[in-house]
Amino acid sequence: MSHPARVVQVELGERSYPILIGSSLWSALAEEIASRFAPTRLAVISDSTVGPLYEPQLEAAFEDRPWKTSHHRMPAGESHKNLASVEALYHEILDVGCDRKTPILALGGGVPGDTAGFVAATLLRGLPFIQTPTTLLAMVDSSVGGKTGVDMPQGKNLIGAFHQPSLVVISLDTLKTLPQREISAGMAEVIKYGVIWDKELFGALEVGMEGLLSVDSEALPEVIARCCEIKAEVVSKDERESGLREILNFGHTVGHAIEAATEYGEWLHGEAISIGMLVETAIAETRGTQLGDLRGRLRGLLSRAALPTTPHKCDLDRIWRLMHADKKAREGRIRMVLPTRLGRVETVGGITQAEFEMGWKICEGV
Ligand SMILES: NC(=O)c1ccc[n+]([C@@H]2O[C@H](COP(=O)([O-])OP(=O)(O)OC[C@H]3O[C@@H](n4cnc5c(N)ncnc54)[C@H](O)[C@@H]3O)[C@@H](O)[C@H]2O)c1
Ligand SMILES: [Zn+2]
Repeated sequence: MSHPARVVQVELGERSYPILIGSSLWSALAEEIASRFAPTRLAVISDSTVGPLYEPQLEAAFEDRPWKTSHHRMPAGESHKNLASVEALYHEILDVGCDRKTPILALGGGVPGDTAGFVAATLLRGLPFIQTPTTLLAMVDSSVGGKTGVDMPQGKNLIGAFHQPSLVVISLDTLKTLPQREISAGMAEVIKYGVIWDKELFGALEVGMEGLLSVDSEALPEVIARCCEIKAEVVSKDERESGLREILNFGHTVGHAIEAATEYGEWLHGEAISIGMLVETAIAETRGTQLGDLRGRLRGLLSRAALPTTPHKCDLDRIWRLMHADKKAREGRIRMVLPTRLGRVETVGGITQAEFEMGWKICEGV
């Protein structure tokens, strides 16, 4: 049986849970499920791409286990992270049968993860939830922390609930089938952790970025574990985002607006965040924060991760207006998480349109 190379604990009192990180952890997952939940049934939610790839591994690992496993696939892609998918999943799972002890296991990236989490939060007023993320983004970000939910035509993640998983199992071998562009997009969030929290992580990424992009990298498990540790620490101090947790949104105020302006079609989330982090760093500069060469180093790292670093010509009025739809905006005032030095950020209110446009243009110019 394979054993996790690393275990990171998310400390949330009675709702604390471990994140197991390693290669081919399917049988370790089965063992954990047996000892933690002893279920009679288990419902797996994946998507139309991930299901065919990894359901067989689960099936094999669960073969001699006493629970019945049902598999449910939603169509792949952000456009299906909606209430129609949730309703279809409710029907399917109720039809095969479930009770208050039936764990919902999310198998996939952030889309099935967020959707399955919302199903788990709401079906029978709450079922145990297990995350087995299969994208780099889901491994370092969305599978940890308990934010679940779906999109509405009016905007992303507008319906949701906080529902912590009871277990997260990261099987690194799943990255082997993930397209390289998705690996790079996840790397944007990894780089984000370096800027907001951990200058040593940032330095390590500068040393070995090219190697980390290859899935066989020996350093990747440690980097993923470090990101999970940071997210776990932030979430355990501020589970419901009343303060500290906002720092995870560095690059996201501008990034989300770019995604919305391009109808979520042109950029992957991490690619929009790459531009967002650079523009927000430039905004910090225009406000007088002495950042040395942080923006240059950040741009270098992002570009080595094969991420975009120069914004397209855009209708800046439109991006500015879209930023007001951000959940952090308060009474029409734009709030942003801005770096103060490498490894530290602060939340700043009252960013002006002129500051935003100046930051954007600085990034267009280089
Ligand atoms: N809950 C949170 O705290 C949180 C945090 C960050 C992001 N998110 C959400 O996460 C979502 C983005 O997540 P994502 O980037 O993982 O998207 P995703 O789940 O759509 O995965 C991206 C693509 O890769 C495919 N895929 C997934 N794993 C694969 C594998 N191992 N091999 C081959 N193909 C694979 C998927 O089918 C999909 O087409 C967004 O909806 C975002 O809002 C949530
Ligand atoms: Zn993000």
